[in-house]
Amino acid sequence: TVKKLWGGRFAEATDALVDRFNASITFDQRLAEQDIRGSLAHVRMLAAQGILSTQEAEAIAEGLEGILADVRAGRFEWRVDLEDVHMNVESALRDRIGPVAGKLHTARSRNDQVATDFRLFTKEAALHLADLARELRAVMVAEAERHLEPPVILPGYTHLQVAQPILLSHWFLAYAEMLERDEGRFRDAARRMDESPLGSAALAGTGWPLDRHATAQALGFARPTRNSLDAVGSRDFALEFLSACAILAAHISRLSEELILYSTFEFGFVTLPDAFTTGSSIMPQKKNPDVAELARGKAGRVFGDLMGLLTVVKGTPLAYNKDLQEDKEPVFDAFDTLETILRLYAAMLPRARWNAQATLHAAGRGFSTATDLADRLAQGGMPFREAHEVVGKLVALCVAQDKNLWDLTAEELHMAHSGLSPQILEGLTVEASVASRTSYGGTAPLQVRAQIEAARERLKED
Ligand code: ARG
Repeated sequence: TVKKLWGGRFAEATDALVDRFNASITFDQRLAEQDIRGSLAHVRMLAAQGILSTQEAEAIAEGLEGILADVRAGRFEWRVDLEDVHMNVESALRDRIGPVAGKLHTARSRNDQVATDFRLFTKEAALHLADLARELRAVMVAEAERHLEPPVILPGYTHLQVAQPILLSHWFLAYAEMLERDEGRFRDAARRMDESPLGSAALAGTGWPLDRHATAQALGFARPTRNSLDAVGSRDFALEFLSACAILAAHISRLSEELILYSTFEFGFVTLPDAFTTGSSIMPQKKNPDVAELARGKAGRVFGDLMGLLTVVKGTPLAYNKDLQEDKEPVFDAFDTLETILRLYAAMLPRARWNAQATLHAAGRGFSTATDLADRLAQGGMPFREAHEVVGKLVALCVAQDKNLWDLTAEELHMAHSGLSPQILEGLTVEASVASRTSYGGTAPLQVRAQIEAARERLKED
């Protein structure tokens, strides 16, 4: 094994098992780009502050650029015995430019270094997922528009029991709303984590005359962090990112569940594209919604990422503890998982074919217009509670006779309430039901049209 960069006070070599246990290089090599950017900003600032000479800083910067090129070309050889990305890069720098490489770590610790690298990564990840959530939202709005004329009517459910008819467009817009908030959560999180820990050093700051504002600016951060202990010891930026990921994953999981259900033979509302489904190796008839199922299942994995890191952080005293090395994999995992799912859904949804006849038929079953009937009675002056009771009795009668509300006879209506005549059933259709829901945010086509337009406007803003 190599000589450790921190080896001065040690008399024996690290146990091989410890080397492997302690190392983060298998996953934190993913931060190489951020690590080198951070080092470049640091070394340029050191020179500007007169802490390093211009020649020293130039030699270091040149060496770092060379390493970055190697990393990008996949030529860099990562070594487990060098533990992490920071020491791998620094050690490669020494191989390239000699002992002056040792000046790079002036006024810096791996603690502020890793906090900086990881914030850079997480901020970019948050903004990337925000963009992808927005793209999927645009797809939802486009689908809402596409199914508005002629309107596709869908049964709306509560408790997964038929409730009231709704427009399919309204359903799409519901997910568009969730995705809009998801995007907002990522952007809010990115704003809050937009502070540079660099220059906080190990935990207490440093006596070197640094310019932390300069490095913050060079790295594209809005400002430097205000407290060095907090800067190196806090990971709530990662937790906040993972929280936004978990909520987004929950939304996608609900959507997936609906698609899985609606694409069954029994529902027959939607046909998913062949390219996004798979077959069975034994049952020739099968077309399974694997993408939707995996997306539903992967929510569990993303929740696990959040729970895992919350649990890692909860008992750690200030400031840095090695426990915090466990922060990276959950963030990488949640990011990769959602990045793929958002792209899959943006491609899959426009190719799903909705069976308007099946959804219309289903929307008319299950006494979905019972509320409309009760509303009619109430409009005639009957207290709504009484109207509810009367219609409830009529529904019970229909259930017993296995028929629908519009099959009720004049006699049956009269028996339920003396003021009732068949006229009350006229035009009691799902189309009329949907058209009547004109309250702001309701499912009436005019409302939905207005919400589609408003959603389009918001998609134009940034
Ligand atoms: N690999 C470490 C991590 O990911 C870097 C920071 C190490 N700092 C330390 N004092 N050992 O957290």
